Amino acid sequence: MNILLLGSGGREHALAWKMKKSPLCDQLFIAPGNAGTALVGTNLALSATDFPAVGKACLDHHISLLVVGPEEPLVKGIVDYFKANHPQIPVIGPSAFGAQLEGSKAFAKAFMERHGIPTAAYREFSNDNFDEGIAYIRQHTLPIVLKADGLAAGKGVLILNDHEEAVKEFTDMIRAAKFGAAGNKVVIEQFLSGIEMSVFVLTDGAHYVLLPSAKDYKRIGEGDTGLNTGGMGAISPVPFADEAFMNKVIDRVVEPTIHGLSVEEIDYTGFVFVGLIKVGDDPYVIEYNCRMGDPETEVVMPRLASDLVAHLLAAVNGELANEVVLHDERIACTVMAVSGGYPGDYEKGKTISGLNQAIPDSSLLFHAGTAAKNGAIVTNGGRVLCVSSYGNDISAAVSQSKKVLAGIHFDGMYYRQDIGYEFK
Ligand code: AMP
Ligand code: GLY
Repeated sequence: MNILLLGSGGREHALAWKMKKSPLCDQLFIAPGNAGTALVGTNLALSATDFPAVGKACLDHHISLLVVGPEEPLVKGIVDYFKANHPQIPVIGPSAFGAQLEGSKAFAKAFMERHGIPTAAYREFSNDNFDEGIAYIRQHTLPIVLKADGLAAGKGVLILNDHEEAVKEFTDMIRAAKFGAAGNKVVIEQFLSGIEMSVFVLTDGAHYVLLPSAKDYKRIGEGDTGLNTGGMGAISPVPFADEAFMNKVIDRVVEPTIHGLSVEEIDYTGFVFVGLIKVGDDPYVIEYNCRMGDPETEVVMPRLASDLVAHLLAAVNGELANEVVLHDERIACTVMAVSGGYPGDYEKGKTISGLNQAIPDSSLLFHAGTAAKNGAIVTNGGRVLCVSSYGNDISAAVSQSKKVLAGIHFDGMYYRQDIGYEFK
């Protein structure tokens, strides 16, 4: 069958690489893709949020499965659009209603509350109860967590150690639209202290399978310092997520989540990315995303030993109950190279050299923000490319990735040296 994958990041290169290995996949198209996905399939120059154009591309290329990588088209309703206009083409992703698990923090918190899923205590405020919000902040313990309700490009969460600063930020969100409409509603929640990890679930709305788990490294600087980024690296499996902990995750989080989707009849076929924090020995949900993580996918796909396309087909056919997911027992780590200045301002269009070096069998190069230009490959985003490597331990895998990165160059290139540092 022919498959169309939407998106253009490292996540999409890793998904494309994995899907192309499947005997079920004939032609693979990626829209808009990057210079890496062009090596695995055919890029189509169209926007993932231009639904009529995506629909037309599906008809033109005889697509039998549409896989949506990023959240934006999901939150904007691509699944609903296809159900209404191209019901014969199954889509991996939730309806716009289901995508609110990611698209609205207030929706996600209320969902967790209804289904008894452990998460930080919270209250929700808007212009209607603004004064109450101010009073709530002033009596709240520190640190205090403020979350813009809607999608805010990863910038909508503030962790503050001062009541007056929190009052100011809260006011800016609600009264001055600091995060645009995303901040019309603000969730204020208790700060949880612990170590984070990402759990990936594929669901058909009633049943589920677990993919390998991962831990990502969000901060720009060594030792998890500096500004938040989209993700500077990831490891899988997660050393502290032993069987006892994962059983708690399944019993307290994954099963109630899928049960909740099912009993509330939420139209949801696709990935649920559960961002967890381990507090003591117990899992709490920090957030849901309605898609795979990036750069987690760049370690999760290498560790998926079974056929991704077969799993996706089982999901769209409502047959996940009998699906068996096989994990590669090796450790995988990825290290992300970013543009100088990222996550602040950075320049694009820098020529990337060293991409043709011979890469060891135990490493994979995934492109993120890259583009082909006049016969060269140039930078086209903040996160540019990553190298994922297998190893017998985290140190070996990370060293291997760094060795490959040392042979690649672009002006301003930066990557963290210490991915996986807590576990070495
Ligand atoms: P989110 O955008 O929801 O992923 O939040 C961004 C980051 O903020 C998370 O990855 C956590 O590191 C942190 N965070 C969010 N909520 C909390 C919380 N209740 N307690 C502690 N840290 C949090
Ligand atoms: N790596 C975190 C995310 O994809 O949201």
